[in-house]
Amino acid sequence: MNQATENRGQWSSKIGFIFAAAGSAIGLGNIWRFPYVTGQNGGAAFVFVYLLCILVIGLPYLYAELALGRAIQKDPVGSISAIRPKSGWVLIGGLGIITGFFILSYYGVIAGWTFGYIFKTLFHNHSGFGAFVANPYLEIGLFAIFMFFTVMVVYGGVQQGIERWAKILMPVLFILLLILIVYANFLPGSGKGLSFYLKPDFSKITGSVVLAALGQAFFSLSLGMGLMVTYGSYISKDDNLLSSGMWVAVADTVIAIMAGLIIFPAIFAMDKNPAEGPGLVFHVLPEIFNNMPAGILVGVIFFILLSIAALTSTISLLEVPTAYLVDEKGVARKIAVWIVGGLTFLIGIPSALSQGAVSWLSKPIIGGKEFLSLMDFLWGNLSLALGAFFLSIFVGWVWGAKHAAKELSLGNKSFAKWAPLWGFLIRFVAPITIFIILLNLFNIF
Ligand code: TRP
Repeated sequence: MNQATENRGQWSSKIGFIFAAAGSAIGLGNIWRFPYVTGQNGGAAFVFVYLLCILVIGLPYLYAELALGRAIQKDPVGSISAIRPKSGWVLIGGLGIITGFFILSYYGVIAGWTFGYIFKTLFHNHSGFGAFVANPYLEIGLFAIFMFFTVMVVYGGVQQGIERWAKILMPVLFILLLILIVYANFLPGSGKGLSFYLKPDFSKITGSVVLAALGQAFFSLSLGMGLMVTYGSYISKDDNLLSSGMWVAVADTVIAIMAGLIIFPAIFAMDKNPAEGPGLVFHVLPEIFNNMPAGILVGVIFFILLSIAALTSTISLLEVPTAYLVDEKGVARKIAVWIVGGLTFLIGIPSALSQGAVSWLSKPIIGGKEFLSLMDFLWGNLSLALGAFFLSIFVGWVWGAKHAAKELSLGNKSFAKWAPLWGFLIRFVAPITIFIILLNLFNIF
């Protein structure tokens, strides 16, 4: 082991990385965000575009981030400046770090809801979701508690412990999702939901649907802000980046698709509106638990598992700005964690109050979006797409697809025959597609 890896730490094994990266990828993005965004964007046609985005852009781009991280062994800013010191490219690393802050700021709020719902389900509290999120003390309190958990885990360096737990618990989540799929699809009227979700009406594909699908692909795979650069920097040189990345993408996509197979049949069986927005799964799931046999038990276990899935994601979001302060600014890790956690909490307060607690934050601000949805759109969608646009150009052209491909073939000799295709995707397909989609957003194209 060389000096650098000794100081930075490494995943204990290939499986260690897969679980940490899958832990980051699988979270509220799959179970909360994917259904609500699918619902708002018309269902099956969106799902189709989403899968296409994962395959053609998400996965190749994931490899780009992993290759950059493992080759340079630094945080995103450090990795970029190692290749192009003091150039404007370094700003992209900076954008990623800011994006991490902002995503965590509202993600932590939703994670707080998940945590609160453990107790709401346990104590048979049937007051509606609307009243729950409109209570300012509860909102801020739950958010604070969740942020505190996240900080404590990163502070104590107990990720390894979490990794171990996640290995046991994520299969349980998988089984629970299977049970819920069966239950939801037996509800009378659920068939309409299934066809909304799976039978595409391609005329519904518009520019904003494609942008939402692309953004969701990046968000769900934890891409576009250099997280996978950071996680890649802890991977050993002998590991096969290709197969590891593939496992992460497959696991993440399967969990999202499964969540939809529960939510949409249930929504239509309950006669609810699939396009209602961020509250969607918090309206639908509790109702499923209220009605199904042993529903309280299933519900409590479900929200515990979802909270843990969210925690493995918030840890990763906190990790990027923290690694930056430690690697680039020489701040002690334990101090950096508190700075990042504290700032994120402050930035997140308006999001926490935007679901009814404070009326002007809860009213549509731009494009019919209240504060939290607006943050989710700006950071969880736009900024990730922008980051991925620049980073794919950086890896494909500035660092060079050849260097990246060489890194990718360490640990996978057969990559050589795929390298030209990958190079084409990362140099042309990814940046051009993202560019057109972004132009379209501003009605320029
Ligand atoms: N992918 C996570 C989810 O689906 C959220 C997340 C964690 C994330 N880290 C990220 C999103 C980094 C973008 C970038 O819940």
